[in-house]
Amino acid sequence: MSNIVFSGIQPSGTIHLGNYLGAIKQWVDLQDKYKSLFCIVDLHAITANKLLASELKSNIFKTVAAYIACGIDPEKSIIFSQSTVSGHAELSGLLGCYTPVGWLNRMTQFKDKAGSDKQKASLGLYSYPVLMAADILLYRAQYVPVGDDQKQHLELARDIALAFNNYYKLDYFVVPEILVLDHASRIMSLRDGTSKMSKSDPSEYSRINLDDTDDLIVKKIGKAKTDSILGFDFTTLKCRLEISNLINIYSVLSSLDVDKVCEEMSKHNMKHFKKELADLIISVISPIREKVIDLLRDRFYLHEILEKGAKKAAEVASHNMKEIKDIVGFVQ
Ligand code: AMP
Ligand code: TRP
Repeated sequence: MSNIVFSGIQPSGTIHLGNYLGAIKQWVDLQDKYKSLFCIVDLHAITANKLLASELKSNIFKTVAAYIACGIDPEKSIIFSQSTVSGHAELSGLLGCYTPVGWLNRMTQFKDKAGSDKQKASLGLYSYPVLMAADILLYRAQYVPVGDDQKQHLELARDIALAFNNYYKLDYFVVPEILVLDHASRIMSLRDGTSKMSKSDPSEYSRINLDDTDDLIVKKIGKAKTDSILGFDFTTLKCRLEISNLINIYSVLSSLDVDKVCEEMSKHNMKHFKKELADLIISVISPIREKVIDLLRDRFYLHEILEKGAKKAAEVASHNMKEIKDIVGFVQ
């Protein structure tokens, strides 16, 4: 038991409602209970769809600002970017030697992201899950709060930890546990109830971004796909993917049970429901958006947070890295 929490988000675009509900919202609660590290995983962000250097830089600052605006307190938690602590890349290289390629060949995210021409996918995209395992194992973290799409990567991180521990007959690495929130672990696209809300979806109308204006939120929810079935009959919701996603978002944001939301909304029509939902989303997103705008005015402050975070993270990382090298037999 280490009681350490580790999680991260790629600075590959604007943070959306799925990231907030699936990941960041639970981080905010966890930071009060555990020593927590929240990383901006910039090395992961260059494994696919590379950005211009100026865009990546800007996304990194926006991500720090979003963490803080959502309630991550830099006094309680360690906020830092992955590339500033060399142990991540170092341990990733080392753990690659304990990871059979057969395990990596099973990773569905690689298959999805690599697309039809796998020969053109980068080695970095292929070894992405090993770097993710290194992120977690480097701090011997116990808990990893993420969305449901990261389950397979977490399983791999556990397998790598066990492979290393078994080889050296030690319990060095903590075998990490995934923490997913029941109803928020997979927020779906507003345009297609079969795919998850994602930064990389070409349609802006598929997601609510944390920097969307109130008007845009109203528009996006207004255009959100629904179906022609009348009413909010709880028992039929499972087959109505898009509407059940909207109800789910409402339920998570309002802390009302799904059946309670359906019962309430049955008294009205879809237009009314969408208005209520947009208002609810605005009540959560708009203070975050304003705080982000405010924080982004002072990049120096944000940079300082990253520097302080990196210093604290590096202390733990270099201590653990020394122990790991010693276990392997490297003479230092
Ligand atoms: P990413 O945007 O891929 O860097 O994801 C950052 C975090 O947000 C991870 O913990 C993901 O599992 C989580 N996440 C991403 N998209 C969603 C979604 N649509 N619903 C719930 N969680 C999500
Ligand atoms: N792969 C995660 C995602 O895309 C991001 C990530 C990288 C991560 N390293 C991590 C999440 C370590 C939790 C722990 O969402």
